[in-house]
Amino acid sequence: MIQSKNMIKTIGDKMILKGISLEIDGGESVAVLGPNGAGKSTWLKITAGLLKPTEGELFIAGKSFKKDHLNLKQLIGYLGHQSFLYDHYTPVENLTFFAKLYHLPDPGDKIHRLLDEVGLSFFKHEPVRSFSRGMIQRLAIARAILHDPEILLLDEPHTGLDQQAVQILNQVIQRKKKEGVTVVMATHDFPQVMSVCDRAVIIKAGRVKDDVSLQQKTADWLYDHYERQAVQ
Ligand SMILES: Nc1ncnc2c1ncn2[C@@H]1O[C@H](COP(=O)(O)OP(=O)(O)O)[C@@H](O)[C@H]1O
Ligand SMILES: [Mg+2]
Repeated sequence: MIQSKNMIKTIGDKMILKGISLEIDGGESVAVLGPNGAGKSTWLKITAGLLKPTEGELFIAGKSFKKDHLNLKQLIGYLGHQSFLYDHYTPVENLTFFAKLYHLPDPGDKIHRLLDEVGLSFFKHEPVRSFSRGMIQRLAIARAILHDPEILLLDEPHTGLDQQAVQILNQVIQRKKKEGVTVVMATHDFPQVMSVCDRAVIIKAGRVKDDVSLQQKTADWLYDHYERQAVQ
C-alpha cells in the first residue's frame, strides 16, 4: 500500500532523511519509533504529500505519488501537530469545508455521525477558537477520517490528550483497523503501540535502524528492544 523508496530530505545543508526505504502492506498497522529529531514527522509529512522529498520515490497503492498525487491524496488521512482547522468556523462548518475539498456528495449525515463519534455533538455549532486542545484534536480526528481514507498517518496522536480523548482516538483507530485501513503511527507511547500495531519500525538520525514484528510480543519486550537499539 505504501512504498517509500530511498527517501531523502535535505533542508539547507542538513540531511534530515538519509534514505528511508519502507514497504507497508494494505491493512498493516505500523508504529514509527525513534528519538526526537530522528525524522519521523518529516517522513510522515512526505508520505502524506505535505512535503516534497529531495530524492526518492513514493508509491501509494502501486502508483507513483509524483504522477498522481491529487487522486492518491484522497486515499490518505493525516493527523499531525497542526489541526488544519479554521478557528472562526464551527465543527460542522469545518467538516463541510473539508467535505467539499474531497468532493464528498451529501456529507451532512456523515458529519453529524462523526461529531457524535468524537463526542463533539454538543459543541458542533460553537466556533473552534473557544475549544480546548483535546476538543480540537477530536475534531482533527474527525477531519482526518471524513473521506474514508485507506491509509491513516498519525503523528504522535495521543500527545496532550485527556483520558477521554485518548479513548475516543483508540476506538476510532480500532474501528479503522477492522475496516482494513492501513495505520501508520509515530509515537512514544509503547502501551498504545502494543494495543494498535503489528509491526514497529525504529528510525534514528534519518535512517531505518530496525523493523520488527510485534506479533506475540509484550510492551516490555519492545521497551527492551528499543533501549538496546538506542545505545548502538
Ligand atoms: N523545516 C525545517 N527546517 C529545518 N530543520 C528542520 C525542519 N523540519 C525538521 N527539521 C529538523 O529535522 C530533524 C527531524 O525532525 P522531525 O522529522 O520533526 O523529527 P521527529 O518527528 O522524529 O522528532 C530535526 O533535527 C529537526 O530539527
Ligand atoms: Mg515528530
